[in-house]
Parts: sequence; C-alpha cells; structure tokens
Amino acid sequence: MDSLEQLVLLAKQDFKDAPDAVALENAKARYLGKTGLITEQMKTLGKMAPELRKAQGAVINNAKGQIEGSLNARREELANEKMQVRLNAEAIDVTLPGRGRGKGGIHPVMRTWERIERIFGSIGFDVADGPEIETDWTNFTALNSPENHPARSMQDTFYIEGNDTEGKPLLLRTHTSPMQVRYARSHELPVKVIAPGRTYRVDSDATHSPMFHQVEGLWIDKNISFADLKGVYLNFVRAFFETDNLQVRFRPSYFPFTEPSAEIDIAFGSGPLKGRWLEVSGSGQVHPNVLRNMGIDPNEYIGFAFGSGLERLTMLRYGINDLRLFYEGDLRFLKQFN
Ligand code: FA5
Ligand code: MG
Repeated sequence: MDSLEQLVLLAKQDFKDAPDAVALENAKARYLGKTGLITEQMKTLGKMAPELRKAQGAVINNAKGQIEGSLNARREELANEKMQVRLNAEAIDVTLPGRGRGKGGIHPVMRTWERIERIFGSIGFDVADGPEIETDWTNFTALNSPENHPARSMQDTFYIEGNDTEGKPLLLRTHTSPMQVRYARSHELPVKVIAPGRTYRVDSDATHSPMFHQVEGLWIDKNISFADLKGVYLNFVRAFFETDNLQVRFRPSYFPFTEPSAEIDIAFGSGPLKGRWLEVSGSGQVHPNVLRNMGIDPNEYIGFAFGSGLERLTMLRYGINDLRLFYEGDLRFLKQFN
C-alpha cells in the first residue's frame, strides 16, 4: 500500500473518530488545509517532470476526492445525529389530551342581573344605568333624607376624596334609589324603569357584603296603586324563580323616601335554610317630597318603587346560605352555576 492510500485510510479513520462538527473540521484541516497532508503532496507536483506530474496529479486528486467524499459523508452523519438529539428533546406526545383553556362562565349574580333585565324588559320596563359615585343630594337629600336624619346612619358608606359642586363629599352610592331621581328628572312621564347596579355599604356578614347589587324599580303614572306594584313584583318573582309556589310577604316598614313602605321577604325553598324568610327588597309609594324633587306634581302623579338585592335573590334561587361565597373567587363554588 503506498503512502497516499494510507493517507486516505488514515483520514477516513480520523473523520470517523471525530465526535462532533468542530473535531471533524479540525481533522479536515490536517489533510485538506493550507498545510494539510494532501495539500503538501500537491505542492510536490510543481517540481516533477510534466509526464510524471500528470500521472501523479491524477493519483493525488483521486485520493483527495476520496477524502472529501468521506468528509462530506461524516458531516452529514453528524448533522443527522444532532437533529435526532433535538427531535428527541422536543418530542411532542400527540396522544396526550389537550391542555385547553377551560370554558369561562357567567357569575351567578350576573346571571341574576341578566334574568332581571329580561323579565322586566318583557313587561315594558326601560333599563337604565347610573353612576356608582354619587352626590350627597342624589343619594340622600333628594330622597327626603336631610342631613342629620337618623335614617342616614342605616346606610353607612365609603366616602371619596373631593367634593361635589355644593361642597359635600362624594360617596359610593348606598342604594340604587338615586337613580329614581336621576331618571325621573330626565325622562317624560309616565315612567317605567329598572336600574340595576353595584352599591356599597360598611356591612359584612352572611347576608351582607360591602359591595353588593341592587335593582331599583320605578313606576310613575296617574292611576296606579300599591296593588299594581304588588302585582308587578309578584309576577317578577314568579318568573325569576320559575314557580308560582313561592312564599312572599310584604312587611310594613319605613323608608324616608316612601310612604307607606314595605319590605319584601321570600322564604327559602331549598338548601340548608329551607323555610327561612330572607328580606330581598324595600318598596313603597314614592314620598310626595321626592316627587317634588323630581319636578313632578304629587297631586297629579303617583309613584311606586322598589329596591331589591341581587345577591339575596341569587341565594334564594340556588339555596345558598352565605352570600360571601359569591366573592371569595372559589372556582369549586362558582363552577356549579355554569
Ligand atoms: C334600600 O336600599 C332602599 N333603597 C330600597 C327601596 C327602594 C325602598 C325603593 C323603597 C323604595 P334596604 O337597605 O332595605 O333598602 O336594602 C334593599 C335590599 O338590598 C335589601 O332588602 C337586601 O336585599 C339588599 N341589601 C342591603 N344591604 C345589603 C348588603 N350589605 N349586602 C347584600 N345585600 C344587601
Ligand atoms: Mg331593608
């Protein structure tokens, strides 16, 4: 075996031994580089006689070709190995179940809100929306609760920094009743409206939360009576609870903005509190002073109003005994309603 054949064998072995691309390129330099063994062989051709040079040149080129061929084969091999390692590392098991995003759901209190709008909408009530930050006048004074009136302390609330145009502090509305005044002052009579929304008080127990929802109802017309309010409300709760088999009572009460006034209680039909009464609403005939503050003549028009708690209605509908569950964000609880 001559030295060129040996060189080819040596190179092939070297390439085979190269564990990675860098080692392979270093091995290549030893044969084909500027001072590589094959290159050195080429340099000897210059000093040869033309006949010999031609023959020897062909032999060297053949050896060079073999070395290059084996180099390329090893390069490809290493590239494939690298790709395989990567594929293994990034392997995706297509038989695994998908992660998915999970389906969102509507909060039970929001579901109640939507149902209320649908039921009252179907009997011709407009739906209005009002500010959660209120003035002292709309939240209290216009509703016949002058400053220092003891009824105000029943609705202790959160005050906002900064005053209204009368220099009174702004507050988070304690009920949706200010919407009675806002709506009646800006709409033609007769008025038939509900105004659902968030309300705030310094309250917290199983039936009270600091943020809760009310829906205000207001009906102002010429020849209506407490019986009409009662009829509308009973119709509403029957549609809401999807049953006529309800225990509902109107209990005489007091609000500065209605006279006479009643609170509305409904008994639990299911759940741990089954049979127990829960207050859901205040109601009454709009006080003449409030009608005047709306710019309405109390001798010509009569108004009826109610303000109901959405959390309380939701508790009764699903038999839930503690309204704080609505706001703890526990998905195990919330998922049950979707
Ligand atoms: C009022 O807020 C009156 N504005 C209702 C009214 C409107 C009377 C129109 C007459 C005419 P009361 O404070 O009772 O009344 O609240 C009404 C309802 O809101 C309660 O029956 C209850 O269902 C709900 N509620 C009151 N406070 C809370 C609270 N902290 N958390 C959850 N629900 C509450
Ligand atoms: Mg009450």
